Amino acid sequence: MIRGFIFDLDGVLTDTAEYHYRGWKRLAEEEGLAFTREDNEQLRGIPRRESLLLILKGRLYPEEKILEMMERKNKYYLEFIREISPRDLLPGAKELLEEIRLAGRKNALGSASRNATEVLDRLGIRSLFDAIADGHSVERQKPAPDLFLHAASQLSLPPEECVVVEDAAAGIEGAIRGGFRSIGLGPQERVGKAEAVFPSLAGVHLDEIFTALDRKP
Ligand code: BG6
Ligand code: MG
Repeated sequence: MIRGFIFDLDGVLTDTAEYHYRGWKRLAEEEGLAFTREDNEQLRGIPRRESLLLILKGRLYPEEKILEMMERKNKYYLEFIREISPRDLLPGAKELLEEIRLAGRKNALGSASRNATEVLDRLGIRSLFDAIADGHSVERQKPAPDLFLHAASQLSLPPEECVVVEDAAAGIEGAIRGGFRSIGLGPQERVGKAEAVFPSLAGVHLDEIFTALDRKP
């Protein structure tokens, strides 16, 4: 029985994955570092510090400089999200959140972002969540399962009764490690390890999800 859904935020409910990319891109340009959209695919779901370390590709910097670069990227990101409104919800996202609630199931957020609640508020969907797990909730972020386990425990549900909905390989990995059901959004190369894959949430209803998950053992 599936009783709960744990949604990632960036790239699942809204396209803030693009804003994270643009923030890192601007920082990389200022620092003279090569950083492409393709490189960015590896950064999906990965926390701020680890993302920067991936961009630095092993180059060593003093801790002070690392903190300053993280801060600068976040400043750019905050500028981007200042304009977010309910119009920025990705197609199908709000409909599915509402359908889940109407069906007596629960919604949780499982996002590595420390800016997640601000984005939820700007999107106007915070009240559709029964629990929030974000970048402040646990120490070990994705691909560790800790964030999703924290969300499930807030919902008082065991992992096997929750579906994690993710656009990142690291998120699907965390879901599998934690014993959750999983839905990947995006290309097979990225989220192909999920139990079921959809291009996005557009037109995805509970029926499709249950059918897709039942087909798998
Ligand atoms: C994840 C994003 O949701 O949050 C990553 O996919 C981002 O790109 C991470 O690095 C941390 O976000 P923030 O807002 O705390 O820097
Ligand atoms: Mg994401």
